[in-house]
Amino acid sequence: MIEFKNVSKTYPNGTKGLKNINLKIEKGEFIVIVGLSGAGKSTFLRSINRLHEITEGEILIDGKSITATRGGELLKMRRDIGMIFQNFNLVKRSSVLRNVLSGRVAYHGTLRMLLGMFPKEDKELAFQALDRVNMLEKAYSRADELSGGQQQRVSIARVLAQKAKLILADEPVASLDPLTTEQVMNDLKHINEQDGITTIVNLHYIDLARKYATRIIGLRAGEVVFDGPVEEATDECFAEIYGRQLEKMN
Ligand SMILES: Nc1ncnc2c1ncn2[C@@H]1O[C@H](COP(=O)(O)OP(=O)(O)OP(=O)(O)O)[C@@H](O)[C@H]1O
Ligand SMILES: [Mg+2]
Repeated sequence: MIEFKNVSKTYPNGTKGLKNINLKIEKGEFIVIVGLSGAGKSTFLRSINRLHEITEGEILIDGKSITATRGGELLKMRRDIGMIFQNFNLVKRSSVLRNVLSGRVAYHGTLRMLLGMFPKEDKELAFQALDRVNMLEKAYSRADELSGGQQQRVSIARVLAQKAKLILADEPVASLDPLTTEQVMNDLKHINEQDGITTIVNLHYIDLARKYATRIIGLRAGEVVFDGPVEEATDECFAEIYGRQLEKMN
């Protein structure tokens, strides 16, 4: 589904965010990207939907180069990619329902959305999405009245309403407590398993990576230093990914 071909990213100040990445991600995988702060996890994730531009190589999605795509075609490709952020990125003063409906913007254009002209089917989709993350009863609450975990579940519902085929989540649980973290990760996992939506998550915690991933990709200084099924990600592998700092910490 996704292919990285000789992908490198050098930031304008000369920092190398990614170094010659070559890998393939198949439909339905649940991938967790791990690595130290600054290893390139966000750069990797954001390269896929071109929130960051790569400087070398090419990224293919379903055989089509998103790197080379422009204009309306790019918008269409992005429509299939849902993004979940650490800080939820909700419109705080809007209702939960409105926020979820904004997942439909790419299908109808912004003007209709601003005027609040959502087709009936979209509202149904939005309610269904909220139901799946157990947030139906909050549909008419303002987004800023929700707890962090609830806000993150709304942002998952937004991606569901978007009918994304690929979910990119950049540290989706970094600001949540352990119980809420489990709820949010379980929601992502259920959606991945039930809908077959390919999911790529950046995480800081090894135990979470082990619990939810089918495959782990370890980055260090912009390079892939581990890529394999979760069963193969031994403590030694993690030590390698984290450059032996883990052992020192322990
Ligand atoms: N806009 C930017 N300009 C210059 N360098 C950047 C920029 N964004 C990131 N970098 C650098 O690129 C490297 C990779 O950063 P990235 O944000 O991808 O790391 P990360 O693994 O997501 O880290 P964290 O766990 O702290 O979120 C780092 O060295 C970082 O300083
Ligand atoms: Mg990051």
